[in-house]
Amino acid sequence: MKRLLPAAVLGLLIATALPASARKWTSDDGRFTTEAKLLGYADGKVKLKKDSGETVTISIERLSEADRRYVVLVSRSRKRIAAKMDTASNVSFAMDVQAFLGNYCMKCHNPQEPKGGYDVTTYAALKRAGNKGALIVAGKPAESRLILALQGEGEIMPPAGSAQPTEEEIAKVSAWITAGAQDDSLGPGPQPPPVAKPRK
Ligand code: HEC
Repeated sequence: MKRLLPAAVLGLLIATALPASARKWTSDDGRFTTEAKLLGYADGKVKLKKDSGETVTISIERLSEADRRYVVLVSRSRKRIAAKMDTASNVSFAMDVQAFLGNYCMKCHNPQEPKGGYDVTTYAALKRAGNKGALIVAGKPAESRLILALQGEGEIMPPAGSAQPTEEEIAKVSAWITAGAQDDSLGPGPQPPPVAKPRK
């Protein structure tokens, strides 16, 4: 706990210093550009404030690849995630991590459609390496592709346009990996004997 304190303080400073400066934005087809500040990003929508004071909200899919990456990286700061990990204790695989994967990843990473070679539908599948290596390295979120992809290293996951997790949610998954990535679900285990149906 003590060791994480400086990161927490740093995270707060960065969060308050955030109001990003104006930058040039380009549409995905390269036809439109505008100078604006990033105000926010949620549910696939990016909110910008132009120099004129006008605010616009556009779908992240309509922005250039470089702009999308910028939005994701600014809205999921590693420092703030590290700070939030401090308060995310006792994260449960069964209660928290599976729900996270179900909400944000399973529709594209399942046994029928394991994009990139990754299936996240079970604990056993999560521990298998896909095309880019291990999704989870117990104790080491910085080496786990699950966290790296969420933080925009390689392909940013979930892709723009899909539901986006919050920093708090990412911090919980990181905290679970840091704590050893244990499976606390009951798993398939021995099944109870079938109950005889009452006869009519
Ligand atoms: C809308 C579909 C979709 C969703 C949702 C999605 N992915 Fe992916 N993911 C893909 C596709 C497609 C690829 C393959 C990209 C490639 O091979 O170039 C991929 C590749 C990956 C890779 C390997 C690529 C790399 O550079 O690391 C990882 C890791 C990954 N996904 C993790 C996740 C995680 C974790 C989530 C949920 C937080 C998620 N994905 C959600 C479609 C999706």
